[in-house]
Amino acid sequence: MIPGKGFFITGTGTEVGKTVVTAALALAMRDQGLRVGVMKPVQSGGEWAAPETDGMRLKTWLDLSESMDEIVCYHFPEPVAPGLAAEWAGVEIQHEVILLRLEQLAARVDVVLVEGAGGWLVPLGADWTIADLAALIGWPVVIVAHPLLGTVNHTALTALAIRERGCTPAGVIFNGLREGERDQSAAHNRRLVEQVAKVPVWGSLPWLSGELTRHRLKQAACEHLDMDGIVGFLKGGKADE
Ligand SMILES: Nc1ncnc2c1ncn2[C@@H]1O[C@H](COP(=O)(O)OP(=O)(O)O)[C@@H](O)[C@H]1O
Ligand SMILES: [Mg+2]
Repeated sequence: MIPGKGFFITGTGTEVGKTVVTAALALAMRDQGLRVGVMKPVQSGGEWAAPETDGMRLKTWLDLSESMDEIVCYHFPEPVAPGLAAEWAGVEIQHEVILLRLEQLAARVDVVLVEGAGGWLVPLGADWTIADLAALIGWPVVIVAHPLLGTVNHTALTALAIRERGCTPAGVIFNGLREGERDQSAAHNRRLVEQVAKVPVWGSLPWLSGELTRHRLKQAACEHLDMDGIVGFLKGGKADE
């Protein structure tokens, strides 16, 4: 396990909002006086350092002094699972490289948020997945999930797989609820996820139309997420103190 405190951020799938939630969480944690680092160990899709890549969005939203090389360990231009993109590029993703960089980052800050890629079982190579990387890091896992019909099953399956890999699913964050698209399940999903997945739901970040600014992301997290619970979990829930 990497010493230090942090969360591994996974999702019930790709495009569910991991990068947006990671940025919003980091900004709200900073608001509580914490030094927060972020890492996107493996990203695929887009040119290196293009503004729409996860690493660059995190760097810009959080105004990070770290270079892209410190935030992103492996980048592949093809928008496919990192394991496949790496295969096409003839590159082997090495966990030692990621763990070393993460250890260095964790030593400089109070909290690190590590954004996975896609969902929990996305391949990173022929014989390993995001789940294996998260298990090596050993930090509690946050599940980002969509807020509508289907989310109970997706979230509970993800929580089950996280436990099966020996990790702790710490909390669920719903993301992207558009008021006009609320379905009949929306009001009940929090309770049902907590019942079935047995993971606390830390809130539901609404869909923010218009430009996603630093201020709006932070405000949304402070208003809609249980930031005291999240920070309290980190402060009280780690065995390495
Ligand atoms: N709460 C939100 N409000 C507005 N746009 C969002 C929100 N969550 C996600 N998005 C947008 O949806 C897309 C997917 O989100 P992203 O965070 O990149 O997902 P992931 O990291 O899980 O692939 C991005 O274009 C992002 O800007
Ligand atoms: Mg992302």
